[in-house]
Amino acid sequence: MPLQHNAHEQWWRDAVVYQVYPRSFADSNGDGMGDLPGITERLPYLAELGVDAIWLSPFYTSPQNDAGYDVADYTDVDPRFGTLADADALIARAHELQIKVIADIVPNHSSSEHPHFQQALAAGPGSREREMYVFADGKGEHGELPPNNWTSIFHGPAWTRVTEADGTPGQWYLHIFDTTQPDWNWENPKVHELFAEVLRFWLDRGVDGFRVDVAHGMVKPEGLPDAAVNADGLVDIPEGEAPIYFDNDGVLDIYREWRPILDSYDGDRMMVLEAWIPEHRIPLYIGEDVAHQAFNFGFLQAVWDSETIRAAIEKPLAEARAVGAPTTWVLSNHDLIRHATRYGFPPDYRFGEGLSRDERPDAELGQRRARAMSLVMLALPGSAYLYQGEELGLPEVSDIPDELREDPAHKRSGVPGRDGCRVPLPWKRDAAAFGFSETGKSWLPQPPEFGCLAVDTQEQDHKSTLQMYRGALRARRRYGLGRSDKPIEFLDAPEGVLAFERGPVVVAVNTTDVPIDLAACLDPDRAKVLVQSAPVEAGKLSANSAVWLHRD
Ligand code: GLC
Repeated sequence: MPLQHNAHEQWWRDAVVYQVYPRSFADSNGDGMGDLPGITERLPYLAELGVDAIWLSPFYTSPQNDAGYDVADYTDVDPRFGTLADADALIARAHELQIKVIADIVPNHSSSEHPHFQQALAAGPGSREREMYVFADGKGEHGELPPNNWTSIFHGPAWTRVTEADGTPGQWYLHIFDTTQPDWNWENPKVHELFAEVLRFWLDRGVDGFRVDVAHGMVKPEGLPDAAVNADGLVDIPEGEAPIYFDNDGVLDIYREWRPILDSYDGDRMMVLEAWIPEHRIPLYIGEDVAHQAFNFGFLQAVWDSETIRAAIEKPLAEARAVGAPTTWVLSNHDLIRHATRYGFPPDYRFGEGLSRDERPDAELGQRRARAMSLVMLALPGSAYLYQGEELGLPEVSDIPDELREDPAHKRSGVPGRDGCRVPLPWKRDAAAFGFSETGKSWLPQPPEFGCLAVDTQEQDHKSTLQMYRGALRARRRYGLGRSDKPIEFLDAPEGVLAFERGPVVVAVNTTDVPIDLAACLDPDRAKVLVQSAPVEAGKLSANSAVWLHRD
C-alpha cells in the first residue's frame, strides 16, 4: 500500500540523520573507546550542526568481534559503552535538544556469546534450543562437508562445524558473516517473539526508530540449496540481483509484523533498512505496512560526472514517487571508504574492500569533490544520512598497522577492511588524541593530519567543511529543501555542469576541471550565494565545486 503524504507529521521524510559510531565519537572515561556519556556530552555540537536525528550504531553487550554488530544481549548496554541509565540519559538529552534517536537493530544474526546460541550448542542436535539458529547436518559420509557451498560476506565458508557435548564433531551452523555471528532461524516463531520484545524494549525507552542491519537477510531459501559460484569460488551475485541468501520475499513478512508494533506507539516511530538489494526491489520493502525507508545506495556509487549524478538522482526519486515515499541519500557510512577519499580517485577506479597503504588518492581533489557532492545531497528532496566526521571532511585512514585492525573481514582474509573510516574523531587540534579522550588513548591511531581537521580549528575558519555543513543545514531547513512536495527542476547548463532548482534555491555543480560562468545557468546579478563548496568569484563557479544560490 503506498504511503500517504500527510504533511509534516512524519519527521523522517526530510530529516538529516547523523550516524554516530559510538566507539569513535567521544570517550568520556579515558579508556580509548568512545562511550554513551561521551556522546551525551557532545550532543550540543550536533544540535548546532543542525541535524534532526542521530542513528547510533550498536552499543549493546557484545564481544566486539564485528564492532558491536555481534550482539550478545539486545536489551543491555555493553560496559565499554556505559549502562542502561546512560542510554536513558542520552535519549532524554537528545530529546531536550529536539534531536530524535534511531537505534540499530541486528536481526540477521547474534553473537555466538548470546545465551540462546550457547544453549543451542549445549542442548545438541534435534533440540528446541538448536531451532533458534540455522543448524544443519553436514554432507559426506560422516557429515564432514558443510551443508551447502555458501560463502561468508567476510570471506571463507559460511558454515562452521561444532563439537558436540560428547566431544565428537557434530552439526554445522550458518553464519553469513563472521564465525562468531550465527544466523538466527527466522522459521522459528520464537525468534519473531524475541525481536518483537526487543523492539518494544527500546520503543518503551523512547527511541524514535530503528536502522535495521542486513535488512534483506533473515529469511533463507527453502532447503538451503547450493548457490552458483563465481571463478573465485564465492557465492555468485547475478547481475542486478542479490546473493541467494538475501532478498527472499519472506523477509517482507517480518516488516509486516514489525510495522504495527511501531505504529502502536505515538510520535511517528520509524524504521530505515540497510538493504543492499537491486534498486527495483526497494519499493517492495517500503509502504504503509512495511518499512518507512531504505537506504538508497545508488547515489554514493555515482562517479564524478554530471550525467551520472543526474541519473543517480532521478532514478530513485521516480521509484520513491511510485510508492509515495521520500527517498534517502547517503554518501558515507561505517562500512565504506570515506567519500572525501573516494572522490580522489579516477572515476573508473576499482575499489577493493577498504583502502591499502599503496593506494594514493589525490587528497585535495577528493576533498573538493566530496564537499561539492555533499552540497548536492543536502539540497535533494528526502532524508539525508550523514556519517560522523564527514562534516569535517575526514579522509579514509589507510596506514593503520595490520595488528591494530579489528575488522573481521581483514582478520579472515587480509583485505584492508573498514577500520580506515572508523578512526576516532578529532575534536581539538592541540589536545591528546585530538580531544577524543583525555588520556590520549584511542582504539585506532589517528593520523597527524586529523589535527588541522579538528572541530575547534574548523570552527575558527569560515571556509571550513564544518562551517559549510552548518550553513547548508541552516539553509536546507529555512527553505525546506528536503521536502518531497517541492519538485526538483533541472535547468539547462553547460556540459559537465548539473543545475537544478529547489524553490527559490538554485543548486549548481561543476564537475569539470575549469571554472564555468554561472551566467550560463542564471543571472548571477540577481542571485545571492547561500552556501558554496569553493569560492564563487567574478560570477564563475570554480572547477569541481558546487554552490547554492538564492534567486532575488
Ligand atoms: C551491516 C553493518 C556492518 C556489519 C554487518 C554484519 O552491513 O553495517 O558493519 O559488519 O552488517 O552485521
